[in-house]
Amino acid sequence: MRCRALLVGCGNMGSAMLRGWLAQGLAATDITVVEPSIERAGLVLEHGVTVLSDPKSLGTSFLVDAIIFAVKPQAMEAIVPLYSNIQGRPVFISIGAGKQSTFFERLLGQGAAVVRSMPNTPSLVRRGIAVAYANGNVQFEQRRLCTDLLEAIGEVAWVDDENLMDAVTAVSGSGPAYVFLLIECLTQAGVEAGLSVALANQLALSTVAGAGELARKVPESPADLRKQVTSPGGTTEAALEILMEPRGLQTLMTRAVAAAAKRSRELAG
Ligand SMILES: NC(=O)c1ccc[n+]([C@@H]2O[C@H](COP(=O)([O-])OP(=O)(O)OC[C@H]3O[C@@H](n4cnc5c(N)ncnc54)[C@H](OP(=O)(O)O)[C@@H]3O)[C@@H](O)[C@H]2O)c1
Repeated sequence: MRCRALLVGCGNMGSAMLRGWLAQGLAATDITVVEPSIERAGLVLEHGVTVLSDPKSLGTSFLVDAIIFAVKPQAMEAIVPLYSNIQGRPVFISIGAGKQSTFFERLLGQGAAVVRSMPNTPSLVRRGIAVAYANGNVQFEQRRLCTDLLEAIGEVAWVDDENLMDAVTAVSGSGPAYVFLLIECLTQAGVEAGLSVALANQLALSTVAGAGELARKVPESPADLRKQVTSPGGTTEAALEILMEPRGLQTLMTRAVAAAAKRSRELAG
């Protein structure tokens, strides 16, 4: 990947992206990080990347292709305008939850090329999925560059309608929490069925991770895989009759995702 990148904020997500870029072959000399935390800046320095505590030190001749905002959403309002005059007509990529493209256009100017994206927590182990939306100023090559930069932390999907970001947030943004809850519930159910906490947790965790990996790797759909392990009159069928009853898991999941999407719309204001 060839790109001059400026990363603003190198916390959990920013450092995951940085590690991913370096692993993908982006040259350390092409990356600049702005990070005020001395402790975090120290860790970044170990990678041979330029680290600044403040954008004032960037200099007027500083040129970049992409600026990635990986700071907390509530900090964006004060931080983003500091980068509005950087040379090179960069694409601005935000990973800030809930911040719409118009928010960045207001702070950076109407002509700014803005990509709003929503990654999720498995990005921390490079197994995330980021969904991205580009405003009308983003050129084809910039979109490709954003895909490359976001793929450093997992898969990337694009949407053409920014309104879909609320549903995306409800499915993949909040989704890891639903899966963690599934692991907790399966563990608790195992304990109530007589297993030790340690064994029940090991079984639940490994089953969720293994089933997810299997579903990713084989061509069959999740529904087909479920049917394959459900023998008529068997143990799985006995359990699925409860999970798939009329007000079972599908009803709960549909309600949960609808509630999260509604909250996402409310927070975007
Ligand atoms: N974590 C996730 O799983 C996740 C998932 C989806 C989206 N996101 C989004 O990703 C963004 C970052 O989240 P995070 O979990 O990585 O947060 P984080 O760990 O708090 O990282 C933010 C970093 O930005 C630094 N910072 C503060 N002020 C700055 C400034 N003026 N210039 C440059 N850097 C500054 C912070 O330093 P200090 O600690 O010293 O303040 C911190 O190191 C958020 O907008 C969040 O919505 C996160």
